[in-house]
Amino acid sequence: MSARRRVVLAYSGGLDTSVAVRWLQEEMDFDVVTLTADLGGEGRDAATISDRALRTGAIAAHVVDARRVFVENFVFPTLAAGALYEGAYPLATALARPLIAKLLVDVAREEGADAVAHGCTGKGNDQVRFDVATAALAPELEVVAPVRDWDMGRPQEIAYANAHGIDVPVTAESPYSVDANLWGRSVECGPLEDPWTEPPEEVYEWTAHPATSDPKGEELIIRFEHGEPVSIDGQAVLAEDLVLRLNSIAGRNGVGRIDHVENRLVGIKSREVYEAPAAVVLHAAHDALETVALPRDVAHLKRQLANEWARLVYDGLWFGALRTALAAFVLATQQHVTGEVRVRCRRGTVTIVGRRAQQSLYSNALATYDRAGDTFDHAAARGFIELFGLSLRTQARVQGALEDLQPLSLPRQVRRAS
Ligand code: ARG
Repeated sequence: MSARRRVVLAYSGGLDTSVAVRWLQEEMDFDVVTLTADLGGEGRDAATISDRALRTGAIAAHVVDARRVFVENFVFPTLAAGALYEGAYPLATALARPLIAKLLVDVAREEGADAVAHGCTGKGNDQVRFDVATAALAPELEVVAPVRDWDMGRPQEIAYANAHGIDVPVTAESPYSVDANLWGRSVECGPLEDPWTEPPEEVYEWTAHPATSDPKGEELIIRFEHGEPVSIDGQAVLAEDLVLRLNSIAGRNGVGRIDHVENRLVGIKSREVYEAPAAVVLHAAHDALETVALPRDVAHLKRQLANEWARLVYDGLWFGALRTALAAFVLATQQHVTGEVRVRCRRGTVTIVGRRAQQSLYSNALATYDRAGDTFDHAAARGFIELFGLSLRTQARVQGALEDLQPLSLPRQVRRAS
């Protein structure tokens, strides 16, 4: 047993984190344990990743399939909350960070480590999320961010790797920085850094170009129980499979492309392209079900709180008291969010074509404009409006009308009976 300090590094197998394994040993004198979380991103083979970690010098390599917990504990609650950052970003990357931090902390305790480490740079939100989530779960652990601390660009990292016999993952150099898990792909850098430039088609990997996708599109029925999607076209599916299935159906119909200039927590505006076919469809469907399942006041307040949820997730505050409190509110609202939504994906657009809830608040007898079968009390409307408008009438009588327009003189034709 060595007496060296020990660190658990969130390891993707890419250049940054491979160099970080060695850097943590050489420069910081740590024994390095790696942790790789499979959250359904692209091309993750557990054996290949742990081989690379061990060959690079890690003393142990953990690979965890965390897809189910990710979807059930992070993604679906955020879907039920209706949370999209700045009304656009379904938060795939942001939601993954607290879970990875939790896994790092668990492994750190198991392995008796003194610190955890991640490969984030000093310009993004992700460093904040890892650092803050770790602080919330294990304030005694040190957090090390080699990529933020070292002064190397890609060429220097490659040189460092060569000098230390680290086999550099042979990925063709791409101008983009990509992060992916099953809730979405996040792409930045390269030509995207000019917000006036249309994203080149090569940016997209999960979605067909809307103009070349099947003009007929595809229609499906998604069932929700208490706000959680449980089946597609009557077929029950596991949480992660449901998301994967929708990524493929919606993606081949060009649904799920999001091009957004967003406000980072660290004060920078940044142009991001997201692909999130399942997220786009599920948010649209869930919103539609809520239109018939929630009372007006609950729906309206929930919309405001959705923004708070989105911001706290974006800011890395998942393990804070506000999220727990909001989760209790959201849970209470989802009691009757059970029913089906008919959804059409076609040429880049998702359209809700039908919705029904088991305990729907939509009443045909109240809504209909047909006299026959109408149960709405028309006479009661008069009294209701009398009282509803009472304070305005009083105000106008006593203090004068608050009119900001002069009498309007608009082009007009008048004819009188002769
Ligand atoms: N802007 C997004 C966020 O802060 C995504 C960042 C993803 N990182 C990347 N390498 N593309 O959550």
